[in-house]
Amino acid sequence: MSAKIIDGKKISEELRLKTAEAVKNRKDSVRAPGLAVIIVGNNPASRIYVNNKKKACEICGFTSYEYAISEDAPEAELLSLIERLNNDDGIDGILCQLPLPSHMDENKVIDAISPEKDVDGFSPVSTGNLVAGKPCFAPCTPAGVVEMLKYEGIEISGKHCVIVGRSNIVGKPAALLMLQENATVTVCHSKTKDLAQEVRRADIVIAAIGKAGFITEDMIKEGAIVIDVGINRLENGKVTGDVDFEAVKEKASYITPVPGGVGPMTITMLMKNTLTAWERKFGC
Ligand code: GUN
Repeated sequence: MSAKIIDGKKISEELRLKTAEAVKNRKDSVRAPGLAVIIVGNNPASRIYVNNKKKACEICGFTSYEYAISEDAPEAELLSLIERLNNDDGIDGILCQLPLPSHMDENKVIDAISPEKDVDGFSPVSTGNLVAGKPCFAPCTPAGVVEMLKYEGIEISGKHCVIVGRSNIVGKPAALLMLQENATVTVCHSKTKDLAQEVRRADIVIAAIGKAGFITEDMIKEGAIVIDVGINRLENGKVTGDVDFEAVKEKASYITPVPGGVGPMTITMLMKNTLTAWERKFGC
């Protein structure tokens, strides 16, 4: 069996058009959604992500505002910018691209973003709401994973989902979102005893480790659904995921490619969260 390849790019394009439609239908009476994108320093990967986020804003009919802060700027400068954007009526969502330079405290910066504008879903309020199963801005990457599964008509309820990786951005929130969808969830990490054996029991595997080709074909149950969140740059410049795609696709029933899988969905969910913030503000 060869797996169905889930085309995250195509799903994203469709969902972004839907978002654009929702904006177009309302824009005559209110201003367009506004997203503030903050970039600190010159991390080349961050620059690419920020540019892609700005492009997505254009497609969706949002206004994006970029704020570039220099690598050696004091943390206070970033905090005062966030404070200003929290109080800016034209801004619905604030995103501070991570990672930050080492002299800045990421938690402090995330905490400074007003929960109503936290479209990344990283603030303690968003996290608390996610844990409690309340409506919230869910972190974009795991929300994109759930959206892809639903788009493909894949039943999540009752399935055993094994997540590899326990980061605050992907692994932990993915566990909560999949639990909310009634999956039985196992979270594996670097200290897990027999990781391969755990993954072998999965109906759905979410790989978020950050190591190229870490998930091999022998770890996959026949017919499993394999979602690859990894984005690893190889020495030859190519981008690849955490899954040995060529071998695993022969055993899985569904698989996401890298690039073109989860990546575009992350930005699409950012657009969706920004749309929600805007709709809440204008009471749609
Ligand atoms: N860095 C890597 N992923 C993300 C993300 O989803 N949001 C932000 N703000 N920074 C990131």
